[in-house]
Amino acid sequence: MSQTLKAVRGTRDLLPPETALWNRIEATARNVFARYNFGEIRTPVFEDTALFARGVGEETDIVSKEMYTWSDGERFEENKMIAEWIDKNRSTQPHNVQPGRINEQGTPSFLAKLNALGVQRQVYRGIQQGQHLTGVTELVCFRPALSTDAISALVKARVLAKSDPSSQLQQGRIELRLVIPTSAPLNPWVERGDVSIEQFEGQFFASSQSLTLRPENTAGVVRSYIENKLGETGQLQKLYYIGPQFRRERPQKGRYRQFSQIGAEVIGPPSSGSESPLRDAEILEMLATLLDELGITGWTLELNSVGSAADRAGYNETLRAALVPVVGKMCADCQRRAVTNPLRVLDCKVPDDQPIIETLPVIADSLDEESRKHFAAVTAALDAAGVPYTLNHRLVRGLDYYTRTTFEFTHGGLGAQNALLGGGRYDGLSEMLGGPRAPGIGFAMGEDRLVLTLLAALDQNSAVEQKAEAFIAPLGESLNAAALILARELRHQGLWIELGEGSFRLKKSFEAADKTARHIVILGEDELKSGILTVKNFSTGIQTKVPRGELAVFLAEPPRE
Ligand code: HAM
Repeated sequence: MSQTLKAVRGTRDLLPPETALWNRIEATARNVFARYNFGEIRTPVFEDTALFARGVGEETDIVSKEMYTWSDGERFEENKMIAEWIDKNRSTQPHNVQPGRINEQGTPSFLAKLNALGVQRQVYRGIQQGQHLTGVTELVCFRPALSTDAISALVKARVLAKSDPSSQLQQGRIELRLVIPTSAPLNPWVERGDVSIEQFEGQFFASSQSLTLRPENTAGVVRSYIENKLGETGQLQKLYYIGPQFRRERPQKGRYRQFSQIGAEVIGPPSSGSESPLRDAEILEMLATLLDELGITGWTLELNSVGSAADRAGYNETLRAALVPVVGKMCADCQRRAVTNPLRVLDCKVPDDQPIIETLPVIADSLDEESRKHFAAVTAALDAAGVPYTLNHRLVRGLDYYTRTTFEFTHGGLGAQNALLGGGRYDGLSEMLGGPRAPGIGFAMGEDRLVLTLLAALDQNSAVEQKAEAFIAPLGESLNAAALILARELRHQGLWIELGEGSFRLKKSFEAADKTARHIVILGEDELKSGILTVKNFSTGIQTKVPRGELAVFLAEPPRE
């Protein structure tokens, strides 16, 4: 017997009725984002590994141990092959190798047709007389391997060249050639065609590209900001996202290998006001509103400033020095971090290490005047808006891009994985990724953790379970079609209807209806003829005769006590 397959460790299926809660959370988030003038961005789920190495930081736990990375096979370097092939042919037939000639001769429509056939590159070799082509012309196609597609595209290209009045290749003989690297295997069927196959010697495959499933979305958003030149609008970009992220962490409650984040980023050139402490305060105030509207109470906003990149680097060195005499007494992770990334020592949760960590210098003492002023303005705006927060000088966050304001919203109901969301400012990230100066701030909330918090806070069933307004029970299979019509009528009027099955005995219909709906509507021959239906309300136990025309209104009414 074959083994049953299961969802991969750290991943899980989300099923109804819980998915209704996910949808409600996402709808609430979209509604709040719209009111704060955010638009949605959707970036790819996988990116070049270098994006995360450079953006999130090579020394972070996420990049150094938690990424799903693979090498995406070899890439065929077509341009290199064409250049070398032309070079070689130029030495043997220096007069007649003309790359891209057809295009330059002003017949773009012909070229477009060739491209549509899949002849992505043509090299024309012909004997030139003035502007006109005469004699033998060769259409050459370069491919990483032999394929029927490439051959048939070339054959069609020749037919096209002969018949297209805009093509200058009409006059002479047209020969076809397919050039493939010597590493590509030759198939016997090739010899049948009238396409000559040339195996060309050389290295035409670039080393493979390393790709990674995104462990977070900020780096992708900033990459997209740079690539799509969003900074050139001069406007502040306010973007939100909802989607899966992937980290190979040890799975436990609230920690998964595929999890979903709801996040937002505010980024733009400094002239757009992107650096202003008001942006930080607005994001934090929006989060307080969002959590409130989601029905999450009892959260704590922990706040800190990690200063400018220079402050942070200076503090890292201060910590490194302060750790030298004490690190020998700390856990193995701290001993490693003390060397690679001393800031991470502040994240340590090992109880025995806590008294030592309490004696370490705090980052607030390493901030420059500008960062201090910025942070003071953030807290003043939060005070004015009445958003409560707790200062936590150990909150340095596990990603390297942060500058100045960093924050986390925690919730006691979550246990060890108590961070509902985290975020902060990243004023140098765009430059780190080769982009223009574009200060930014954002956050991401763990949607899985929002769901856990809401489920724990509410009665599980009332949080997620809802029932259809009616279950339609046809009495006999001959009434199935009539039941479908009745269900359609009611659904068109906006009701939530479950459709039963005429082969069920009445008792079975009642049992199924009681589980899924507030009412059962019985449809027998008599009901169909008279147009008066029998409806039972499960919560009151009352059975009523209702004319078909009044059924929708009757079913939509809330149950009477
Ligand atoms: P992060 O703190 O790595 O920040 O993740 C944000 C949130 O995602 C966490 O607070 C947590 O709720 C959730 N989360 C993280 N890992 C897992 C997991 N394995 N399972 C379930 N939930 C998880 C970031 O990702 C930054 N990109 C946030 C940001 C946006 N900073 C600036 N802009």
